[in-house]
Formats: sequence, structure tokens, C-alpha cells
Amino acid sequence: MISRKSIDEVMEIARIDEVVGDFVNLKRRGSNMIGLCPFHNEKTPSFSVSPSKNIFKCFGCGRGGDSIRFVMEHEGYEYPEAIRYLAEKYGIKLEETKADAETLIAERERETIYKVLEFALGFYKKQLHDTEEGQLSGLNYLKERGFRTKTIEAFGLGFASDTSDLLVRAATQAGFTKEILQRAALINQHGGDFFRNRVIFPIFNISGKAIAFAGRTLISSQKGPKYMNSPETEIYLKRKVLYGIFNAKKAIRQEDNCFLVEGYTDVISLFQSGVENVVASSGTALTPDQIRLIKRYTGRITLLYDSDPAGIKAAMRGLDLILEENMDVRLALLPEGDDPDSFIKREGLKGFQDYIQEHSKDFVLFKTQLLLKEAAGDPMRKSALVKDLVETLARIPEAIKRSAFITECAHLMKIEEHILVRETNKALNEFIRQKQRGVPRDIGLAEKETQDKVFQQESKTASASVVDRLDLADEFQERDIVRILLNYGDQEMTEPDVQTVAHYVINSLTDILDDFQHDIYRKIILEYKSLLDDQQTVGAGHFTNHAEPEIQHLTVELLTTPYEYASWEEHDIPLQIQLHPDKNFKMDAHNAILRLKLKIVMAHITANSNLIAQFQDEGNEEEMLIHMRMHNDLLQFREQITSQFKSVVLKV
Ligand code: GTP
Ligand code: MN
Repeated sequence: MISRKSIDEVMEIARIDEVVGDFVNLKRRGSNMIGLCPFHNEKTPSFSVSPSKNIFKCFGCGRGGDSIRFVMEHEGYEYPEAIRYLAEKYGIKLEETKADAETLIAERERETIYKVLEFALGFYKKQLHDTEEGQLSGLNYLKERGFRTKTIEAFGLGFASDTSDLLVRAATQAGFTKEILQRAALINQHGGDFFRNRVIFPIFNISGKAIAFAGRTLISSQKGPKYMNSPETEIYLKRKVLYGIFNAKKAIRQEDNCFLVEGYTDVISLFQSGVENVVASSGTALTPDQIRLIKRYTGRITLLYDSDPAGIKAAMRGLDLILEENMDVRLALLPEGDDPDSFIKREGLKGFQDYIQEHSKDFVLFKTQLLLKEAAGDPMRKSALVKDLVETLARIPEAIKRSAFITECAHLMKIEEHILVRETNKALNEFIRQKQRGVPRDIGLAEKETQDKVFQQESKTASASVVDRLDLADEFQERDIVRILLNYGDQEMTEPDVQTVAHYVINSLTDILDDFQHDIYRKIILEYKSLLDDQQTVGAGHFTNHAEPEIQHLTVELLTTPYEYASWEEHDIPLQIQLHPDKNFKMDAHNAILRLKLKIVMAHITANSNLIAQFQDEGNEEEMLIHMRMHNDLLQFREQITSQFKSVVLKV
């Protein structure tokens, strides 16, 4: 393990302009530097580096972060690899914390598993190219399928002989133990080779190390399985692996899109024909981990499946998962009887591109058309279809995107939009509730002025769903507060007893943190607070280098877009003084907090009013009176807040 001290040292010394400068031609523009983004294809520069904030940010593809993140993204390194890279660049000697004997042994064994897999990879390749059996069965088969030598090389294809224990014998001779062979899943329960008489497709991890193998039979009539896969091992977790990712990652980033297909040969065939941004989830149905792996390189996936029922089913399942990860997804079904391999072999690159251009659809179009076809002539089926669609719509985490799809969908299905909105909201609440495992959100408004016990009790349960719904579409206030905290937290305040903007913001928020609707903002504030409590000086640097990529990303976003004025007017409260935000942060902080408080109290007022109406309907006078008293308290509280917005008059 690299010590914390060393990591801090690397972070202190590594300068973003120097680190990026090794890969990107940067030109000075004002206080920043700009260049062509290395992560996506562009002709005019939208990639910006800020030496003073020590971060990079691309306004085209949205990627951003600190030096470590840049190296991780650019080189596909894991965190420690990136640190080592930077340490080497700056000649920093890394201090490794001494692991205990047990971890050292475990580490060495793991290394050995990688080694034996590398040995097997080389062995299978040699079998394919240099033995008569391999050439006659394996190589001939691959050539007949049209795979060129360069492609066979690029994917490390090999051959496993029909002899029962060739690999095991060779590996043992080379000094590997049976136990290691077993842990690498290269041996069967009889002590012989796991793969026999098969063409071997190695499975590589993201940094290009072989971690498992798949073997395809050469006998088409054989009763056994067409493909065999290594079983899972400690380094081969199927749900986290995508076939082809090592070869594809560069192209995925450049094309800003990833094709997802079903088969090994589909990946290889598309790649050979010039479509290099392609992977397969072979070995499992698509998983969230696999989607997140793609998300490291692009926000866009195109599903490319067969048009048989199994293909459609797989596409549907993939669709919902991808939407949940907040990625854009398109789908294309191939003509009946084709898979990507057969299609591109027949039609060529141009034919493939044209087909995708014409036939790939966004998911709403795809799903509605499919569903409508299914329900043709059966009006009773339509409501079931709407329900199905709504389930999918509810998975889109981003409100603006969701509502755009709802509009499109309403139009296609010929349903009134507001009905679809209502249904989607229902599904959304259900979905959120499921995610929270049935625990209703605590929204106790713990301001001193409203510490009426009855009020607290009642409002908790009754208004939870209303608050959820009101706020999901709108995270502006919470985001704004975190923006101020990250940008200006370390600036001094002039008020007595308050040291910095961060102290001011955090102290004013303690009572309402529970009312935050977005975990990520609450999390940042809480973490900031605990660092402050530890008497540490906190800078945004802590968050641009955060272990959680989502927090890193958000921080960079908030550091690079100081102007969020445009949307303020919709929120009723115009800025008093249009100073540059860097000069206006004290007033901004003050107002942002008030704005959030106002939003929360408004949500409670709405919820409470609904309850009053409900009790009135039920003729429950006692409850009605209690809630009317609460209503007055809430109005008073709102009055207090609004009067603090200097010189701003609000409609009551
Ligand atoms: P070719 O027939 O060689 O072109 O392979 P393919 O990829 O077109 O095969 P197919 O469309 O039948 O299957 C798609 C993917 O499903 C394969 O690439 C494998 O990952 C997997 N698969 C297919 N058959 C089997 C099998 O018998 N066992 C296992 N474990 N996986 C299979
Ligand atoms: Mn095929």
C-alpha cells in the first residue's frame, strides 16, 4: 500500500498543466489553458486546464478532474497505478506501508495466478500457430471464418489440443503448482486441461491482462456446449468483465459511443471491419458493473442484438439497466437471421454504418413501436403497454431528460401528456420507495421556531411523498449551496465568530440537512463538516480527488461553472447585486441558504394544505384544527425567511 503521506506529496507536486501537457498540446487563454480534448473527437478545442484550481475539464464531453484522474482516464490506470506514474514523472520516492506477512503472501499468490494465465495465453497461441494439430484444426477454422492474422494476434486467439493434459504438464514443468492451476481455473477435476480441442478466446481485463478463457468447439455436431467459459476465480468476476474492453476502450472514448453485442465473434468481426468501439457481455446477462465500466469511457451505448425473441428480451433488460445508470442508449435490431458478425461480413463497413444510421432508435421509439406492434388490434392491451413504458420512463434519473421522453412517448402512443406524467410520477415514487427499502424519508423540520411536537409527529409521515415529488425535478438549491461551499468555503467571513464561508454555510445548515433530497449534496456537506471539525483546512482539492467518481465529477462541474444565474429568476428570487460571483460569495451563501429553507417550508405548506383538505372531506374536525394551527406556524416561518431576503418582496 502506498502511504497517505506519499499520495499527498504526489498531489501537491503534480501540476495539472504539466501532466496534461505530456499528452495534449495546450495553449494559454487568460488564466486557463486550452487544447483539443484527448477523450473525444473534436476540431475546435473545448478542453480546458486550470492551473490555479489544478484541474482539467472538457466542456465538450464533460470529463474533468485532477492530475490523478487525468492519468487514470487517459491511460486506463487504476488509482495506485496512476499515483506510481506521477511519482515516477516527478521523481518522488513512494513510501509503501509495510503489509503484514499474510497480505504479502496473498499478494504474491495473486501475482502467480496472473503469471500462470499469461503462461497459458502464450501456450495456446503457440499451439495454434506452431503445431500441426493447431494449424489444421484451429487456424484453418479461424481463417475460414475470415479472421486475418493481425486480428487473431490482436485478440490473442489460441488453440487447446485434444490431448488431455498438455497445458497442465507444460505449466507444471515451468514450475507452477497444481494449486495455482486450479485457482486460475485451468485444470479440470480429473487433473487434466480444462479446455480441450477448442479454439481459445482469451478474456482480458481493462489493462490487457488475461484473466480467463473461452473455448469454442470445432465440431458443429458435438452435443456439448458450443462455448465453454472458465468458471469464476478470485480474479475473474464475470459480472465485472466485458469481452473486448481492452481493445475497444480507446475507440469508445473517441467515438463517444460503445456498441454492445452478444458474441465473442461479433466483437472480433466488427473490430476487424473497422468498428473498434465494441464489447460483449459474454458469459452473463448485462450487469450494472459492466455498464459502469463502459461509463468510464462514454455516456452512450448502442445495443446491437439479433431480432429473435431472445435478442429482444436481452435488449429490453439491458435498456432498463442502462437508463438507470443515467446513460443514453440506442438500440438496433439486425435483420432476421443475422448476427453482427454475419451482417458486417456480407455488407461491409459502409453497409453496417448505413444500417445503424437508419435503424438505431432511441429507446422510447424502439419500445413504443415494439409494444404497439404487439398490441395491434387489441385496445385492451394498450393500458398494459402504457404501464410497461412508464416503468421504463421512471428509471431515468434526470428530470429534464425524463420529461423530454415523456413528451415524445405521449405523442407516439397518442395519449395525453399529463396522464403520462402522472403515471410516471406514481411509478417513480414506487421506484424510489423500493430503493429506500420501504423506509419513509424523515423530513422533520427541526427549526426552533416550529418545535411544536404535534406538528413534528404528523408532518413526518404525511408529507413525505409530496416532498419527494415536488423536489425530484429540482435540485437547484442544494446544488447551489454545495457550489458555494466548494468554490468559496475557505474564504474568510467578516462576521464576528465566523471564520470562513464554510463555517457559516455548514452552521446554518445543520438543522435542515435531513431535508436534503439529494444524497450526494448532503454527503459532500457532511464530509466537509467532519474535515472542518478535525481542524483541517479543507479545499476543493479534497473533493476533486475524492474516492467516489460521482463526487469528483460533480466537484469539477461545480468548480468550472460559476455562473448559475440564468435559472435563478425562475426561482422567484433575483440576485440583488450582479457582481462577479467571485466577489459576491458572501451574499450568495446567505441567499442560497435562505432559498433552500424557503423551498423546504413551501413543500411542507403544500403537504399540510393537502392534509387539511383531506380531513375536511372526512369531517375530522379535530385533526383539521391541529393542521390549521400548523399552517399558521408554517406561514409565520415563511414570513421570517422572506423578510431576510433584503429588499425582495414575495407574493404571499
Ligand atoms: P459463433 O457461432 O462462433 O459465431 O458464435 P456466436 O457468438 O455467434 O454464438 P451465439 O450467437 O450462438 O452466442 C452468443 C454468445 O453466447 C457467445 O459468444 C457466447 O458468449 C455465448 N454462448 C453461446 N453458446 C454458448 C454455450 O453453449 N455455452 C456458454 N457458456 N455460452 C454460450
Ligand atoms: Mn455468430
